Amino acid sequence: MNSEWKLPSRREAQHRTHKQSEIQRNLFVIPDEMKDFGNHRLFYIRTFGCQANVRDGETIAGILNEMGYSMTEDIDSADLIILNTCAIRENAENKVFGEIGNLKHLKLRKPDLLLAVCGCMMQEEGVVDRILRKHPHVDLIFGTHNIHNLPQLVYQASLSKERTVEVYSQEGDVIENLPVQRFGTSKAWVNIMYGCDKFCTYCIVPYTRGKERSRLKRDIIDEVRQLQQEGFKEVTLLGQNVNAYGKDLKMTDDFAQLLAAVAETGIDRVRFTTSHPWDFSDQMVNVIATYDNIMPYIHLPVQSGDNDILKIMGRRYTVESYREIYDKLKEVMPGCAFSSDIIVGFPNESDEQFQRTLDLVDYCHYDNIYTFIYSPREGTPAAKMVDNVSMETKKNRLQILNERVKKYALENNEKYLNQIVDVLVDGPSRKNESIYSGYTDTQKLVNFKVKNASVNEIIKVKITEAKTFFLIGEEI
Ligand code: SAH
Ligand code: SF4
Ligand code: F3S
Repeated sequence: MNSEWKLPSRREAQHRTHKQSEIQRNLFVIPDEMKDFGNHRLFYIRTFGCQANVRDGETIAGILNEMGYSMTEDIDSADLIILNTCAIRENAENKVFGEIGNLKHLKLRKPDLLLAVCGCMMQEEGVVDRILRKHPHVDLIFGTHNIHNLPQLVYQASLSKERTVEVYSQEGDVIENLPVQRFGTSKAWVNIMYGCDKFCTYCIVPYTRGKERSRLKRDIIDEVRQLQQEGFKEVTLLGQNVNAYGKDLKMTDDFAQLLAAVAETGIDRVRFTTSHPWDFSDQMVNVIATYDNIMPYIHLPVQSGDNDILKIMGRRYTVESYREIYDKLKEVMPGCAFSSDIIVGFPNESDEQFQRTLDLVDYCHYDNIYTFIYSPREGTPAAKMVDNVSMETKKNRLQILNERVKKYALENNEKYLNQIVDVLVDGPSRKNESIYSGYTDTQKLVNFKVKNASVNEIIKVKITEAKTFFLIGEEI
């Protein structure tokens, strides 16, 4: 083991300090000797996991651009490959290990290739240990809290020809001067806060992303205005639990006020994710209903329809209080679309408890649900629970739930038949240039025959056919 390595520590990651995070405006610097290091070199990045990771990928790309690197989509031609990983479930991790294995042959063919892995998995002791022992072709390991050190890390790993490992377990501050290369031209992700302090008992995110740290409202608004000037039509405000926005800074502005201020910028479309059903305030409902540019689509993860399971999950709301939020939103926005996350097969979930989840799905008629089989995550409280539910039962429940999801998805989509909807155009489909796709304000994917529309426009489309997970229409 190299004494210069900085390895992750679970004990540190579980700990929460009372230290208030600072806003750093000058922390990121590229030393002169590293500024042209990437000239004539290509990087390839593959991101796994949630939007927070996608947005981190854009920061990584921005930093590498400033070092002279250019992005390539062809992995074979890359001089630097970055895997930006996700730790949320075991299958997410298996995918990454599969990819690391696949890259071995490329590294053998191109010994100068630099292979870096980063993201949430690197915050786990066991993962880093496994890579160090079993995957010697990985050159650089860094975590979610030290992306700003990327120039130094890439430089060191390239020149020293030795493995470089730097993972901080205690979250840093909020760093405002990081560059960004946006991957889209019409829709942008905007972080409003980092980390999570909810500690749901099954979830690894509070350990991989650290404590909740909010950005200042003025920095967020400046970013949205800038995006608007650059021609972006849509922003999605990002946080693991946006309802907690501002609480760590003891600011007077809460999420409802921030959301209203973002809407006031006049950008065409505002979305946010994820809002926790705990702490979903009436002010939030009012703001969402007041501004036309806050999209009528709410992702409201429920996880389970059973109060006892919710309690053991540490979710801090009940099915009744969840339904109350749902009812309020439905009342003020009857056309609002809803999606959710549901975990089946949480330790010792009974048939009756699973049935209550189905009952809730029947109540909410979700437009979509992201469904998962519970996956024990090392170091979380739930991973220590004895579980009497077989994998076969869990798989059966997932299948039953998915059938129910499809039923309501199709039913909801059929209501769009013959309606004229606003679609933000993404671009032509890969297979057929006369077919474009885009999203409605309710986040429905629409494939449509194009007349004059171009990318990044919001146009009118008449819906002619409804499928389970998309709509078909014609530009009018
Ligand atoms: N912060 C968001 C969730 C982020 S993780 C929220 O609280 O809503 C996205 C989803 O992954 C979660 O909503 C949950 O449904 C699922 N998930 C998280 N940990 C999991 C685990 N250990 N096993 C299975 N699914 C999990
Ligand atoms: Fe995980 Fe819960 Fe935090 Fe969401 S709110 S990231 S599920 S701990
Ligand atoms: Fe995965 Fe990390 Fe997001 S664990 S879901 S990439 S916060």
